Amino acid sequence: MVKKNACIFISGKGSNLKNLIIKSRDYNFPIKISLVISNNKNSLGMIHAKKNSIPIKFIDTKSRNYENLIINFLRNYKIDLICLAGYMKIIPKRFLLQFKKTVLNIHPSLLPKYKGLNTYERILKNGEKKTGCSVHFVNEKLDGGNIILQKSFHIKSVDDVKSLKKKTQRLEYLAYPEAIIKIFKSY
Ligand code: GRF
Repeated sequence: MVKKNACIFISGKGSNLKNLIIKSRDYNFPIKISLVISNNKNSLGMIHAKKNSIPIKFIDTKSRNYENLIINFLRNYKIDLICLAGYMKIIPKRFLLQFKKTVLNIHPSLLPKYKGLNTYERILKNGEKKTGCSVHFVNEKLDGGNIILQKSFHIKSVDDVKSLKKKTQRLEYLAYPEAIIKIFKSY
């Protein structure tokens, strides 16, 4: 099958990147990870990319015209899809207008609830009974694009930030690949 060339944007640990790298080895998985972009020189995720011989580009988002640099990389690697995976920077509208192709994100809450940062803390503080993760299309609004799929679980009284994160991320590793398959309908 002809796979779409994907670029994964990261800032940190990169456990979703690692999971997508494993899934993408499947012949029937619709994407190939052709490039990783990180805005953090020390992100652990870059190690996963290196180990798997995936090209990595570090982008200093403080530098002028950094978006044009990214667009050039995306063109050079013929990228059809961007997957944000723990990328801690808002994608500006002007970037989306230039890229024009699909951009996805994974967020650790049941959107539209708890957009933005410190989601686990806020979920616990509000005494929510249920939480989960959402994979969505990216638009110019923070965590605001159409939802592709969500996975949820019930919160227990013993749950804390650490356990909530662990349970949410376990679902993320199922949700992101499923969402990619869903939008490319390749299975
Ligand atoms: C994920 O939990 C995702 O929901 C959020 O950032 C986290 C990134 O984790 N957007 P990792 O870097 O993939 O381990």
